[in-house]
Amino acid sequence: MLVQIANLLSLDVVAHINRVLGQASWIDGRITAGHQSERVKRNLQLPEDSPAARELGAIILAALSRNALFISAALPRRIFPPLFNRYEPGMIFGAHVDNALRGSGNPLRTDLSATLFLSNPEDYDGGELLIDDTYGCHSVKLPAGHLILYPATSLHRVNPVTRGVRTSSFFWVQSFVRDDAKRTLLFDLDATTQRLTHRLQDAPELLQLTACYHNLMRM
Ligand code: NI
Repeated sequence: MLVQIANLLSLDVVAHINRVLGQASWIDGRITAGHQSERVKRNLQLPEDSPAARELGAIILAALSRNALFISAALPRRIFPPLFNRYEPGMIFGAHVDNALRGSGNPLRTDLSATLFLSNPEDYDGGELLIDDTYGCHSVKLPAGHLILYPATSLHRVNPVTRGVRTSSFFWVQSFVRDDAKRTLLFDLDATTQRLTHRLQDAPELLQLTACYHNLMRM
């Protein structure tokens, strides 16, 4: 399931992040690539432990924790500290699948991948995120501050940027529900229950639907 989360960040926050990113020092993006993806990755990235990455990552994590749509869609157990990348003209990230595990010691299992767009689409050409799933290939290019959440099992790529600069943040989520199909079912059930609550207020059947949701989560 692909879920778009509009306006995760306000325009003021996006502007602050871009100011900090504008003064940061970028390194070769292959630093976090696996063996397969380092052959197709040509972009720039902030060092994971740089003060800028930490400050901006904390802003994004705080916004995620307040976003009901993100919580319902991802059912997050752990979130990898957000990373930041930059594509200048000619830069590209060819087809790849993200590593299953991230981090050492107690690694996070990557169930979901997320891209948070930080540049406005009119400020660059190309740079679409292309995600393959069983329904075909989806091209994603969102306004600054919007996020796309997709299964980390998907093959995906970023088209070459041909004009301007594309910056984004990306990270992975380990979910309480590993299987995408099961997570999608819970997401649909949650959304439907909430819409029914608006229409039916205190109908006793809503209590039973809510119980079904939580009992499915336990499974
Ligand atoms: Ni990727």
